[in-house]
Amino acid sequence: MFRTLNVDEVLKRQETGELKRRLRGRDLVGFGVGIIIGTGIFTLAGVEAKNHAGPAVTLSFAIGAVVAGLAALCYAELASSVPTAGSAYTYAFATLGEVFAWIIGWDLLLEFALGAAVVSRGWSGYLANLFGLPQELFGEDATVNIGAVLIIAALTAVAVLGIRQSAVFTNTLVVVKVAVCLLIIAVGAFSVKAANLTPFVPPSRPAEEGTSVLHQPVVEAALGFEQSVYGIAGMLTAAAVVFFAYTGFEAIANLGEETHNPRKDLRVGILGALGLCALLYIGVSLVLTGMVPFASIDEGAPLAAAFSAVGQSWVGAIIAIGAVTGLTSVMMVELVTIGRIGYAMGRDGLLPKPLGTVHPRWGTPHRVTIGGAALIAVLAAFVPISELADMVSIGALSAMIIVAIAVPVLRRTRPDLHRPFKVPFSPVLPALAALACLYLMLNLDVLTWLRFCAWLALGLLIYLCYGRRHSRLAAEERERG
Ligand code: ALA
Repeated sequence: MFRTLNVDEVLKRQETGELKRRLRGRDLVGFGVGIIIGTGIFTLAGVEAKNHAGPAVTLSFAIGAVVAGLAALCYAELASSVPTAGSAYTYAFATLGEVFAWIIGWDLLLEFALGAAVVSRGWSGYLANLFGLPQELFGEDATVNIGAVLIIAALTAVAVLGIRQSAVFTNTLVVVKVAVCLLIIAVGAFSVKAANLTPFVPPSRPAEEGTSVLHQPVVEAALGFEQSVYGIAGMLTAAAVVFFAYTGFEAIANLGEETHNPRKDLRVGILGALGLCALLYIGVSLVLTGMVPFASIDEGAPLAAAFSAVGQSWVGAIIAIGAVTGLTSVMMVELVTIGRIGYAMGRDGLLPKPLGTVHPRWGTPHRVTIGGAALIAVLAAFVPISELADMVSIGALSAMIIVAIAVPVLRRTRPDLHRPFKVPFSPVLPALAALACLYLMLNLDVLTWLRFCAWLALGLLIYLCYGRRHSRLAAEERERG
């Protein structure tokens, strides 16, 4: 269970891999921004300002940026020194051992599959509102959410046809959504009132009676704290929730076998995309809470309603376009990522081997992409899963912890490895990254933790029954006797 993958073997795949090298640094930034900006800023910023943090939600976004930034440095070091399609899964395999690798791969599949399912339902809802489509087919209460299924099917076709096609499509959508964010900041800035931003951190007060313990941050529940909102504690709770908005940048680390110059372009892609999104998020959340008193923020469509409230309703339609294009690119990159992680796991025999193959002409891991998408479509069609967004965050944060641990471990086991980018002050900075991610995880609610533990237990069971026996490394060990 603790056998490790040889780093040299991973590096050899750079020459022998079947995936096609068709991406440049610019495409990686595009994929990064494509998957990062989505529901997090368009919806969660407003919901969290109203319910937990007030104007201090801007600080929650800043905290999220620092934590994501620390984790991104760790990802950048590993991605540029060991470029691979499996990212955190492969790093864990090369440092901590097979069972950790499987757990992290299983966890990443959850993150991106649930992410795509949650977002496809949100997308369907936005589309229904934009074009007046029937709620029974496209809304959150639909028995079979047709809109969600159609968008997943269409994007899967693009993802399977080629990485170049996926990049061009994503880049186009990204230009639109970044332009919409800039417009929100530029137009909204004129309507910001200092009174709405004072006090910036509203005084803490007890939460309303009747909030179930399942929805309390796990650390507070464990320590028996009184439930409270606003104040510093509220700001931190919001930081854990809005961390969702940053999740996804790690997806870039899976494109190492498809990038012309992975050693340079991967770090540019990861750090560049995250930096750009952090600036936009801080700008948008500041403008939102400056435009309307936080208590009157609309939870359904926070930004559009805020612009209506200051007499600028025309911006609402543009925001809806930004949201629809934004969510489309999130799903696009999620589907591409699931393909790469599943492919890496199939190649190592931890998932059925046929999944670890590449289409001869399209150059994409078509089987695992289509298989993953089919499961996502079924989930999105029948299950109202919007409340599972926190699962995406807990999945991303736990993978980040493993990546942060892998940095100093690999420095010790393979000091000779060429590292084009190095996290400064290792092991202090990776340790801080791991602790910060753990801290945010502890601020997620009890129900999210219970679901996460159940998922990991299921994963472990599958590994014991299948992966451990079918693993390629295990077979090689048996051959060697
Ligand atoms: N970070 C992505 C979003 O905010 C998942 O929608």
